[in-house]
Amino acid sequence: MCGIMGYVGPRDAAPIIIDGLKRLEYRGYDSAGVAVHDGTSLTVAKAEGKLGRLAAMLAEHPLVGSCGIGHTRWATHGAPNDRNAHPHTDPAGEIVVVHNGIIENFVALKENLAAGGADFSSETDTEVLAHLIAHEYQGDLLEAVRRAVGKAEGAYALVAMSRREPDRIVAVRMISPLVIGIGKGEMFLASDVPAILHHTRDIVVVENGEMVDITPDGWRIETLDGRPVDRAMLEITWSAEQAERGGYPHFMLKEIFEQPQAATDTLSGRLDEDGSLVLDKVDFPDGFGRDLDKIWITACGTALHAGHVGKVVFERLLRVPTEAAFAHELRYADPLIAPGSLTIAISQSGETADTLAAAGLAKNRGSRLLALTNVVGSTLSREADDILYTRAGPEIAVASTKAYLTMLIGEYLLALAIGRERRVIAAATDDELVRALRGIPVKIGEVLKTDQEVEAIAARFVGHDDVYFIGRGLDHAVAMEGSLKMKEISYIHSEAMPAGELKHGTLALVTAGTPVVVVLTQKEVYDKTVSAIQEVKARGALVIAVAYEDDTEIAKHADEVLRIPRVPDLLSPVLAIVPLQLLAYHVAVARGHDIDQPRNLAKSVTVE
Ligand code: AGP
Repeated sequence: MCGIMGYVGPRDAAPIIIDGLKRLEYRGYDSAGVAVHDGTSLTVAKAEGKLGRLAAMLAEHPLVGSCGIGHTRWATHGAPNDRNAHPHTDPAGEIVVVHNGIIENFVALKENLAAGGADFSSETDTEVLAHLIAHEYQGDLLEAVRRAVGKAEGAYALVAMSRREPDRIVAVRMISPLVIGIGKGEMFLASDVPAILHHTRDIVVVENGEMVDITPDGWRIETLDGRPVDRAMLEITWSAEQAERGGYPHFMLKEIFEQPQAATDTLSGRLDEDGSLVLDKVDFPDGFGRDLDKIWITACGTALHAGHVGKVVFERLLRVPTEAAFAHELRYADPLIAPGSLTIAISQSGETADTLAAAGLAKNRGSRLLALTNVVGSTLSREADDILYTRAGPEIAVASTKAYLTMLIGEYLLALAIGRERRVIAAATDDELVRALRGIPVKIGEVLKTDQEVEAIAARFVGHDDVYFIGRGLDHAVAMEGSLKMKEISYIHSEAMPAGELKHGTLALVTAGTPVVVVLTQKEVYDKTVSAIQEVKARGALVIAVAYEDDTEIAKHADEVLRIPRVPDLLSPVLAIVPLQLLAYHVAVARGHDIDQPRNLAKSVTVE
């Protein structure tokens, strides 16, 4: 996820673009850049780091020109540095582009261009687009962009300018969002409304597969195959603050609702329709996966909860003993980590001090280190031998949601990749998982439609001081994450445990009305978990179950049921966590808490 901003009109473009990018920084902040047309040539300024660095540079050396584009980056291809920052140009400086999203076939495109003699100055997929458009250019930017995007695959938004056409910006939306802002004698383009709200409230939303052509006096939209689109203008009534959260009251809710897109991005270009897998930065030596005899997973908090899912998935699919350990324990435990093992360090930020220390220890003991992280160029990614980026985009709310869900998807991809090398996954299981994974974003969307039901159930939790989350196997792993979400934002004491453990002590705390959340998706242990429900029901508990939509049994046992679509049991955590995120959110809202910045907590714990 990155932020894009464009301006064409009578005013100086750069300050307007910088102001817009500031309001898009929530979409990415590892580098930023601006390109401006001064009527004769295109000039680019860019800088690694937060937007403030670029703004300071431009304050000293202003860019003059009234047509420009800008970008704030959340890296996906290429480390966050000056070179990889957008905008990118072709070598002659004829075409300049910014882009948000992923060009899935950029390696093939780049090889083709390189074979024709092209030189690249960055590691990005974006630069390839600048080359392609320049290659296709015959005097009309719109047509050049049309031909270039005809060769590109992926989910992205692209904005381009040509040196030979001052006062014209052309853009394409392929899934990633784009809006046009209509001013008086001036036009704006942005990834999101907040960037332009200070200038105009008249907005046109660009739809998927559409091209945009703007000049100071007009805009038009057409389809990729050249058919004109008649699109009505919208008047935006949100406040600037509301707009930054996409109209959602909190970033956490926005991020929960971004999960279908985040899952799509995690899978994008990695799992083809035919089932082939490409994990570009995972490059095990020959035979490594085949001979692997131990996997260590280390992380903290939510990331470790994703690791608990990974442990079950790896052991089941790969038959490799796997341990999921708290990083802060592992680093002092003198663990039996040996060469030939794989250590997967999971971290949204890639900067958690304990996770870095445990990962370093594993590496020192000869384990191969794989980083499963959301932040490109983070310390963890730099120290790892292999990297699998989750591509969740920036997560602002302290309570992690979309990062967790994309970590899970990353683990399934890894398990499939290693399983294929070991030849241990039956073809039918492999097929079933591939199909289910490809369909998972849509199913996450279906779970999100139950939001109002979840909100109604949340009202039943509000006055309670203690909540319990139970499940077995993978359901227990999900229960742990559901419980953490509940405690960190609702401040209700919450405990998760395997359903079979209740009767060994905790049952003493279950009294009339105590809420017990039961996750119930695993066929082999279904009846056993139902027995645990009966134990708590006998003590008067209020039982809320998370179960498949076609489970006809559960309504006989639970007071309330949160339904999820059917998927292979191994994948159920990806769906089962979503109602639990919503539940925690609505309970915390009803209790009047600060959702995005809960007390005593920080987004990234960079001290021990
Ligand atoms: C979860 O909601 C928390 N924000 C916290 O548990 C977090 O997952 C943990 O601090 C690890 O952070 P990381 O993924 O950035 O390493």
